[in-house]
Parts: sequence; structure tokens; C-alpha cells
Amino acid sequence: MAKIIIKGGKTLNGEVKISGAKNAVLPIMSATLLCPGKFTIYNVPDLRDTRTMMQLLEITGAKTSFENGTVWVDTNNVNNPEAPYDLVKTMRASFYVLGPLISRFGKVQVSLPGGCAWGPRPVDYHLKGLEKLGANLDLEGGNILAEADELIGCDIHFEFPSVGATGNLAMAAVRAKGITRLFNCAKEPEITQLCEFLNIMGANIKGIGTDSLVIEGVKELNHADITVIPDRIEAGTFLMAGALNGEIKINNVIPLHLEKVTNKLIETGCQITINDDSISITPPENLKSVDMTTAVFPGFPTDLQAQWVALMSLSDSSSIVTDIVYHDRFSHIPELARLGANIKVEKNTAFIRGVDQLVGAPVMSTDIRASAALFIAALAAKGETEISRIYHIDRGYEKIEQKFLGLGADIRRVS
Ligand code: UD1
Repeated sequence: MAKIIIKGGKTLNGEVKISGAKNAVLPIMSATLLCPGKFTIYNVPDLRDTRTMMQLLEITGAKTSFENGTVWVDTNNVNNPEAPYDLVKTMRASFYVLGPLISRFGKVQVSLPGGCAWGPRPVDYHLKGLEKLGANLDLEGGNILAEADELIGCDIHFEFPSVGATGNLAMAAVRAKGITRLFNCAKEPEITQLCEFLNIMGANIKGIGTDSLVIEGVKELNHADITVIPDRIEAGTFLMAGALNGEIKINNVIPLHLEKVTNKLIETGCQITINDDSISITPPENLKSVDMTTAVFPGFPTDLQAQWVALMSLSDSSSIVTDIVYHDRFSHIPELARLGANIKVEKNTAFIRGVDQLVGAPVMSTDIRASAALFIAALAAKGETEISRIYHIDRGYEKIEQKFLGLGADIRRVS
């Protein structure tokens, strides 16, 4: 199985182009299932997850192709509203096809995602919302079977502003009869872009970017084209690599999407320069310890929590990191400990005591962002770190070793 080997301690220097956002392109690709048509999606990152979503669309009957960052989807012959376990188990975002397929076909069969490395990750908000819109749901052989002669607009209040449930139910509601109001919605930029895409397709969604969406059902939707927003999580990961290892400029970003992250980095003593679509970082002599609590957007993203823990492992004193979005998302910590990090976890909080030096060791990726944390730590560690199970990183980071090589890292992939 492929591994990444990183010889740490090299000073990084240079510029890196941030790819399109994984978490934006996956729901957008799902949304193409809403109606027959030919769609063009630009700035698509070439990731395992993008390829999995293409496979899933093909299973429903769509035709897809991918070249030079552009994905074409032809949904004219979609006739199989199903998402099988084989794909859903490798990528939970497959669940996004639930909303579009029930909207278009009045029925859908989607495998129920199981737990994951971060804990149970339920989908009850998606299902309760769909029932409220008038769907009948059944669980059979691990699959959710949903059916509705007609979806009818209603009010749905989310207990927590779930990214996936907001996206899924917005897609289910765009053609429902009457008005659907979603309250306590996710405001993540990826959901904002999904709603904008739905409106380009002819939907009528108001309140985009706020926590209340008002969706007036329309009779028809049409094909549309879109350019995917930059990946703020990839961007944040490179900034944190810079905070430990050298001067980096990240290009093709939307700095507003990273405001909480850049503010936190400034608190550590990093020098940050923000331009229209780029951010530069210069690390300090001594990286200060800074507490951090994740939050929904515009707060500090849970998808950068693992990387922040890696960063704080080399800070000058003690810090406390709490994840309020995913309480069990700490599988990176035992691996960071193998490199010499001093971290204790109690419930959803990590207590980190910065050490002077991490030392390379064989470690294992456990999920996408945990792998990114291991990269950051390994780049700074003394000696060689061998990261296994790197298929996790390939799910969410486009050409990661080429990008770090371009910045001067000593990094290689071996089979
Ligand atoms: C998405 C992102 C993921 C990110 C997460 C939070 C994608 C493909 N994935 O995941 O990278 O870490 O947002 O920003 O975009 N919850 C329930 N019931 C539900 C749905 C969610 O209890 O039906 C809870 C979850 O357990 C979690 C919280 O709500 O504690 C937030 O989850 P959610 O925003 O739904 O995450 P995802 O959409 O799965």
C-alpha cells in the first residue's frame, strides 16, 4: 500500500495554488441530478472523493467526464435513483443524492452511512426533514427507502446547523409545492455556493448566507454551469504548515472564508499579509500557545482542528483545543503522540503542552484531516516520518506531495 515519507526540518518557501473546495463540489455534483441537462463545473479538484461522486452519478445513469479541472455531467438519462453501500461507506457525502433524487423521481434508495472515525455521525436531521416534507421512509437491508407522490413545503428547524442536512433538504425542497423555511441552517461557504447554484438552475431560495432559508418551490429547473470556490480547509492547512516551517503564500483563496483562522494565526505570533485573493504567512521565532474552540461558520472550522492541534504541539507553552462540532474527532492525537507530542484528551477537549521538538516515526492516517495534521507535524519533525493509509489524504487534498515539493519539502510517495 502506498505511503508518504517526509524528511522533516526543511524550510518551506514559495507560493502554492489552492484547489477548488471538496465540500462545495460534492453537493454541487449531486444537485445536477435534480433535472435532465448538461452541466459544466469548473475548478474541480481531482480527488478520490470527486471520482467517487462521478461513479455514483454514473450508477444513477448520468454520464460524466473530467479533464483539466473541469467536470461535465449529463443527467439526461438518469433513471436509477440509488446510492449503494459500496460507495456510501467510502464517502458519506454520497448521502447528498437523497434530496435531489427524491425531488426528481419521487423515490430514492440510499444506503444509510454507518459511523466513522469521528464517532456516530447520524443523519437523523436529513431524515426527519424529508419526512416533514411529506416523504415516507423505510429502512430495509441498511438502505433508506424514501417515497413521496409530492413533496410539500413546510417549516424545518435544525437542532444544530448541519451542513449536510441544510444542503440535502434545500435540494429536496427546491421543487416542493409551496414554501419551505429552513431555520438554524448551516452558513458555511460551501452551502452558500450550493444554494447559489440551485438558484442559477432556476430555484427560488432567499436568505442565502443567513441561518434562515426560504425556498419557494418552482416547477422546473434547468442545467447550469459554475466555478467551484477555493478550498478554505486546504488553504488553512497550508497556512499552518507555514506557521511551523517557513514563508508561504497561498493563492486563489477567498480570505474572508479564513478570517477566524488567520486571526488565530496572528495570535500565535505569525505575520499574515492578506490581499484580494492571496494570503502570505511568516512564522515567528517562538510560536505562542493559543486556545481554540471550533464552531460553525464563521467560527474556526472543525476541519482544521486536527491541524491546529499539530501546530500547538510545537508551541511555547500550553493550550486547550475543544471541538464542539464533532466531540470524538481526536484520532490524530495518538499518532501525533508517536512523534513526541504531549497531548491529553478529556471528552471533547485536548490539553496540549508544547514540546521543543517532534521526532519522525511511522504513523497512520485515520481520516482526511487527521492525515493533514500528520503532514504538518512531520514537515516540522526531526528525521523521517512514514505516513501509511494515505488514501485518506487523497480523498481531500489534490496533489498534496507535489504542492509541498514545490515549497521545498523533502517528501515522496512510495508504493
Ligand atoms: C460536513 C463536512 C465535514 C465537516 C462538517 C462540519 C462535507 C462533505 N463534509 O459534514 O467536512 O467537518 O460538515 O463542518 O461537507 N448531526 C446530527 N444529525 C444529523 C446531521 C448532523 O446530529 O442528521 C450533527 C453531527 O453529528 C455533528 C454536527 O451535527 O455533530 C455537524 O454535522 P454536519 O454539519 O451535518 O456535518 P456533515 O455535513 O456530515
